[in-house]
Amino acid sequence: MTMEIFNQNNRKLISLIALILQTTSIVLVLRYSRTRKAEPYISSTAIVASEFLKGLICIILVWFETDCSLNRLIKKLHDEIYGKPHETLKLTIPSGLYAIQNNLLFIALSYLNAATYQVTYQLKILTTALCCVFMLGKKIEKHQWISLCMLALGVAFVTWPSSDEGNKRLSTQTPKSWLQQFIGLGAVLMATLTSGFAGVYFEKILKTGPTSVWVRNIQLAIFGTIFGLVIVYIFDYKAVMEKGFFQGYSTVVWIVIFLQAIGGLIIAAVIKYADNIIKGFATSLSIILSSAVSYFILNDFIPSLFFFIGAMLVITATFLYGWERKVKLIPLNDQKR
Ligand code: C5P
Repeated sequence: MTMEIFNQNNRKLISLIALILQTTSIVLVLRYSRTRKAEPYISSTAIVASEFLKGLICIILVWFETDCSLNRLIKKLHDEIYGKPHETLKLTIPSGLYAIQNNLLFIALSYLNAATYQVTYQLKILTTALCCVFMLGKKIEKHQWISLCMLALGVAFVTWPSSDEGNKRLSTQTPKSWLQQFIGLGAVLMATLTSGFAGVYFEKILKTGPTSVWVRNIQLAIFGTIFGLVIVYIFDYKAVMEKGFFQGYSTVVWIVIFLQAIGGLIIAAVIKYADNIIKGFATSLSIILSSAVSYFILNDFIPSLFFFIGAMLVITATFLYGWERKVKLIPLNDQKR
């Protein structure tokens, strides 16, 4: 029993550390890929490529689960995916919502400046918590709500541009009309809802059935690839026909695709072994970590006072959320004795 708990805690810790490292590294690689001069790639095709790759990696993981037997792998995939269509179809909801979310975020980025987009999107921390309460019946104490609000505010401060950066951004962007700002804000607010709902829906599916997390992710990847291809067809059919699906795919783009695919697996593991709220804390901490790497190693970021205040809020919120839990555990143990 102790060993079981140890393993469960270990998995939770490893998946959280992996998420912090993955989120940090993808930010840094993306930044590097943007600063290089290269032929542009079509982002909708990259989403399809990473969904497909995620599915392939999951198939390899299921192959390990079935003692590296090809026959057992085929039987398991047949039984779990083809043999249980009702269970498989459940995954159309989160994968459809994630496909919509990716497009909403694209619309939001086209109509809002990067800072408004990033700051507003942090509201997903609160929509996720609300979905946890209503869909999973999770109890969130008052101090934990305070820590969640502190976290959302902290990340908003951290992502707020320094005045120089902000001025540069504003001067290079054409002014947005109130209608464009309205559409952009509407899109990002919708994305905070899909993010919370899809994440918690996936958590509910993972935690209420015997199906392995990797099989669930294969089901998600199948629909993710299909929805992704539909989006390529609707928005980028002409460009793909002209220069091909893989146009502009350099090594860096492949690294981004690989990190994105691995990210999907890590998020699934975090949702399985921890939960969506803890995932929010891990990704918030990784924003601070990637900023530290930018400052100390890449020397391309100068933190503002806003950044320091935000970082303090995020770190305090993280301790506040976990610390209260431990205090609550003491009387429970005493009661058992
Ligand atoms: O912003 P948010 O945390 O909602 O983003 C979650 C991202 O993780 C989405 O882009 C989604 O496609 C991806 N994901 C995944 N596999 C999962 C769960 C989420 O690729 N099992």
